[in-house]
Amino acid sequence: MYELHGTIAVITLNNPPVNSLSAALRQHIAAAVRQAELDPAVTGLVLIGHTKAFSAGADVTEFGTPLQLAEPMLGQLLAHIEACPKPVVAALSGVALGGGLELALACHGRVALETARLGLPEINLGLIPGAGGTQRLPRLAGLSTALAMIQSGAPQTGKQLAESGLLDQVVAEDLLPAALQRAAELARLGAPFPQARERSLDPVLVQKFVSEQQDKLTPRQRLQSAYTAQLEALSAAASDWPEGLRRERELFLQLQSSSQSQALRYQFFAEREAGKLPVVWQAEPRAVHTVAIIGAGTMGAGIAICALNAGLRVILLEQDDAALQRGQQRVTEHYQSRVQAGKMKATVAAAAEARLVPSTDWTQLVQADLVIEAVFEDLAVKQEVFKKIDAHARPGAVLATNTSYLDVDAIAHMTQRPADVLGLHFFSPANVMKLLEVVRGTHTAADVLATGMALGKTLKKLPVLTGNAFGFIGNRIYNAYRKQCEFMLEDGAWPEEVDSALQAFGLAMGPFAVADLSGLDIAWRMRKAQAASRDPRERYVAILDQLCEQGRLGRKTGAGYYSYSAGRQVKTTDAVVRDIITQASTQRGITRHTLTATDIQRRALLAMVNDAALLLAEGVASRASDIDVVLAQGYGFPRWEGGPVFWARQQDRAALEQDLHTMAAQSGHGFKVADLSVLLD
Ligand code: 3HC
Ligand code: NAI
Repeated sequence: MYELHGTIAVITLNNPPVNSLSAALRQHIAAAVRQAELDPAVTGLVLIGHTKAFSAGADVTEFGTPLQLAEPMLGQLLAHIEACPKPVVAALSGVALGGGLELALACHGRVALETARLGLPEINLGLIPGAGGTQRLPRLAGLSTALAMIQSGAPQTGKQLAESGLLDQVVAEDLLPAALQRAAELARLGAPFPQARERSLDPVLVQKFVSEQQDKLTPRQRLQSAYTAQLEALSAAASDWPEGLRRERELFLQLQSSSQSQALRYQFFAEREAGKLPVVWQAEPRAVHTVAIIGAGTMGAGIAICALNAGLRVILLEQDDAALQRGQQRVTEHYQSRVQAGKMKATVAAAAEARLVPSTDWTQLVQADLVIEAVFEDLAVKQEVFKKIDAHARPGAVLATNTSYLDVDAIAHMTQRPADVLGLHFFSPANVMKLLEVVRGTHTAADVLATGMALGKTLKKLPVLTGNAFGFIGNRIYNAYRKQCEFMLEDGAWPEEVDSALQAFGLAMGPFAVADLSGLDIAWRMRKAQAASRDPRERYVAILDQLCEQGRLGRKTGAGYYSYSAGRQVKTTDAVVRDIITQASTQRGITRHTLTATDIQRRALLAMVNDAALLLAEGVASRASDIDVVLAQGYGFPRWEGGPVFWARQQDRAALEQDLHTMAAQSGHGFKVADLSVLLD
């Protein structure tokens, strides 16, 4: 949209929902700028967006299509604006991200609302800024601010950036008048107008900074080419202007065609897709203002914190005063530490805590629109609790269980209203982890599911729908993967070999380090509970049980698979563990042999792929991409590898199927081989 405000031309970007810089928008902006240039009555220009977005950057859906190459390319448009003989001011509201921020950086002035969120999130897509961001930002805001923004990808508010050198002015409201004023002011001052490119950086300082930062990259960052490319691009900012831009573009294009960026872009869209329920389930969610949480342990307290943060009223119910006090203490300590760290205002924390109603009185439940049970993982205990919930909750309240593995139907049947029951499986720490599995029981009503999904969004989670099967999506796949890793111990690998191979692939932690962290007794208890129903012909690895029998329950007891001196994990497993493992191999009649890192990675990934295919065939997962979202968000699977399904789709199919059969033979009786066509066709 183009309109005149006195002598200033205001160009309003209008490409819903987020003003991504599609070919059409780029063409319209270029035409509007040209119109303003040619109109002798115009003395300056303002580029403005809408409340939600100035612009969220390049249109990611165009990547790899001819549209992306349609002229003007983003870089050309920015050069055009920068060279405009009349001053151009960007007025920033909502988000200015990626190419959107780069557009603003090419303008001669920038005015932002305090609440505007400015950032260069390209790293989340496996990219670097590709339209001058790595060149203009360090010139305007300095190397440290620039790298912090480019490396973290996290947006900062106008208010936070007020003194950064990035913005001419930050206003609480009245953005357009402030931008008009700035444009008029620049016009009055006359050419040359401020341009980031006119500033230069000291090459010696740049090189020193870049080499220091190279040393600071974490192992996971080193696995992702975009992190090194960011530093290379920043290093090129010390060159002359055209050379810096050329190098940035070159690196951007290399990354854009890389499998890592493709995987991350796939994850970006898969995450958004996961929140969209298939049409049949698109019922109106029930209103939720008050949530009751039963059980104030690790999970209950974490769930309470995220509900309080979302502005909901929370009734926290425990079985006795002592447990209640402990739970309440967890919540209080969380807010205290946020305030102390300067991450939350004391008034905001106090308001959140004021919405908490701790209680041991079940009649309080009548006030709740939604109840989340987070008591011990024991079917009988949960069933008793649900009988009580049924007796006290108001008609129409949604009733959820946070069970990790138990049958949601067996819990729902304890109530007179199974249609109101579903699973809401949060991940630990519940106030941090974004993933939320929304579990559909046999009788769960459509609007109850819709309420679960909507609550997930209110809590700023990433809700993924799953069917009611053992372990749902995530724990089911994780179990299959962990089992295969245990087989590899018996076959010849040591725990540290398995862990380091999988970390080298990009997993946040290996399975045995994870097991030690969460405590081996959880799995031990579950194994004992399942012992009676286990098929004796199945390959069963008893290493974990033997560790537990020796009191090695993981980090908390100072030893598990690894031993821990002063809390730090020793790198290699000790003689006790190796003895247990060697004996397990002997008992199974296995001659231990070396497994390479590639063998280990492939077998662990195949285990995930196999169960992903089974889950999809069984209808537990509605889409293959949901499985990838769950693994990346909840289990530390490297997002830049896309997830197990994405990974499988990059492999040679015949080799994959052949290896799967080999793995089935290694896994013994009861191993179900999936038909991979459900994932790969
Ligand atoms: N390109 C194409 N589509 C985009 C997009 C983009 N850059 N950003 C968002 N969308 C789409 C989403 O896919 C979604 O579509 P849908 O409704 O069909 O599912 C819709 O816009 C709304 O997005 P969200 O559901 O994510 O809405 P939110 O309000 O939760 O978040 C947002 C808005 C903060 C802008 C978030 O969408 C976001 O972070 N977007 C990505 C921003 C980004 O990464 N920009 C950099 C792009 S790369 C680049 O600019 C290269 C340059 O350096 C050359
Ligand atoms: P926890 O042991 O820390 O807390 C359970 C709480 O429930 C205790 O405070 C206990 O006093 C309370 N409780 C027990 N019976 C009760 C009753 N009848 N009425 C009221 N309160 C009662 O357990 P945690 O780890 O918080 O787990 C809770 C649930 O969340 C389990 O089902 C678990 O499987 C699930 N879960 C746990 C995760 C984890 O990492 N800890 C992750 C995801 C789900």
